[in-house]
Amino acid sequence: MISLTCTVLASAVTFFSCEKCPDRIKVSEDGRKAFVNTCRIDAAEKSAMRLRAERLLERAKPIRHANPMTPLMGWSSWNTFAEHISEEIIVGVAKSMSTNGLKEAGYVYVNIDDGFFNGHGPDGKLRFNPVRFPNGMKGTVDGIHALGMKAGTYSDAGENTCASYGGDKSGIGAGLYGHDAEDCRLHFNELGFDFFKVDYCGAAHLHLDEKKRYSEIAAAIKATGRKDVRLNICRWAFPGTWAADIAGSWRTTRDIRASWTSIRDIIAENLYLSAYVSPGHFNDLDMLEVGQYKGALKSAFGGSGDTGLTRDEEITHFGMWCIMSSPLVLGCDVRNIPPTTRALVTNPYLIRMNQDSLSRQAYVAVRDGGAYQLVKDAEKSFGTARYVALYNANDTEYTFEVKSRDFDLDGEIAVFDLVRRADIGVFTNMTKVTVRPHAARFFLLDAQRRIDRKVYEAETAYLTDYSELDESSYGSTDSCEVQCRAYYAEVNGASGGVAAVNLGGRDSNDLIWRNVYLSTDGRRKLVFDCASEKARTMYLSIDGGAPVKLKVADTAGKFVPLRHEVELSAGVHEVRLFNPWSKIPAIDRMTID
Ligand code: GLA
Repeated sequence: MISLTCTVLASAVTFFSCEKCPDRIKVSEDGRKAFVNTCRIDAAEKSAMRLRAERLLERAKPIRHANPMTPLMGWSSWNTFAEHISEEIIVGVAKSMSTNGLKEAGYVYVNIDDGFFNGHGPDGKLRFNPVRFPNGMKGTVDGIHALGMKAGTYSDAGENTCASYGGDKSGIGAGLYGHDAEDCRLHFNELGFDFFKVDYCGAAHLHLDEKKRYSEIAAAIKATGRKDVRLNICRWAFPGTWAADIAGSWRTTRDIRASWTSIRDIIAENLYLSAYVSPGHFNDLDMLEVGQYKGALKSAFGGSGDTGLTRDEEITHFGMWCIMSSPLVLGCDVRNIPPTTRALVTNPYLIRMNQDSLSRQAYVAVRDGGAYQLVKDAEKSFGTARYVALYNANDTEYTFEVKSRDFDLDGEIAVFDLVRRADIGVFTNMTKVTVRPHAARFFLLDAQRRIDRKVYEAETAYLTDYSELDESSYGSTDSCEVQCRAYYAEVNGASGGVAAVNLGGRDSNDLIWRNVYLSTDGRRKLVFDCASEKARTMYLSIDGGAPVKLKVADTAGKFVPLRHEVELSAGVHEVRLFNPWSKIPAIDRMTID
């Protein structure tokens, strides 16, 4: 007898009634079930709410693992173990990740940081640390790969690694300098590593040129024939726009610590670097310190700099790394990750925001002192869905006035709280949200309509010559390279408090807004708010077209509007300000009427 079984899948969306529950829709932790609260909706809205719940479930679907176009996700040994690592620790961590939900959520890179080597031998070969890795590295790398994960390795662009300057002798002579080709063959052909973090302590001591040195290393990786190795430049400052030509990510700040001031300062240093992110190329805000709670710290340093994080600070830390599209590299001992931290870092919505297919870093749309509103598109450029962060860096509570116009959205806006996985309702025009000190809220806004952006702040523009390497750090000492470069500066009277200054004097020392979007054809008034201590000339070029000369009077250092009318078609435009021969005014922003 043949028996036919029919499986009826339980619907992923269910309705329930709860008078006391504030949310319209709540999604389960794993993102597989949605619950619609009939007490928060009208009877007539039921089918629309079912559709919305289904769309929200769609957005919680697993991401593609190890996608080279999105930020790298994984774990690194440094924050917890420093150089005190071993095959047992590394493979043990990988095993835990493969069973505790981290691998499943996308954390697939297991990165070995400083300390696994023991200089180079007289034959020029990299030696492994006989105490920490008595069996060499092959077993460790194979052990990681056997779990379906990826393995990351580490070196320095100079002769010595960073830990060697802190007293770990094994890093002396372990750097790449003089060994690029052979070390890359060892790491990527023989051992099979998949990621390479290249530090700069040794190179800094040799005063090497960053662009040249990292380009040589990138070429040596290429020469191995491996096309899938992801390179991280670890130079602790935005190195220059050349980095995107050779690397998947670049560290923009000094080392992170498990403390609020460290997290706050790293965010501050990255808020205005959104223009430099593109698919496959990201600002690296450093390895995560989530899971390091105040009073319960587990790291090899445990120094005075590691005071631990509160729960609010941990959410701010992780959420900001997500919305700013930083690599997500866990640094705590994930074999014993606190359950609350595990739930946070596997939250499917926060991960999706980080791994968004557009690969953008959110930019600051509104700023009031230490209170920031950031925004980026969700999955579709210039669409009706946008991610928003309300970030309160202050030590006191702050009430945000959230205006749909500031996010280029219009009509009724449905608000989904990403951390709580809850649809909390709708607003039109403006709503107020109070955020605790050091806390942040992260939302997905779904609007009825998208409207064209009106304000383009200079701090969201691309400065072709931008770099944070200066004479006080090592490397570039060419004084004009340093002094002639444009940068973002806190300037009194500038909207958002920041302007782009020191532009011009060289063709590439320019400012470009690359994503100026207009939904209709027509005549537009472009208004540039500029400040100058003397009369100046600047050139405007749209989409690479013929430059238009703009004369700026002496504004006595105050920002004043400079108007230029132009016919523009619907679509995406590039607006460039420059002067190859002399300096141009400080630019605060461009508004489009
Ligand atoms: C530098 C890097 C850190 C870590 C250590 C290792 O400080 O910035 O991320 O790799 O070196 O020594």
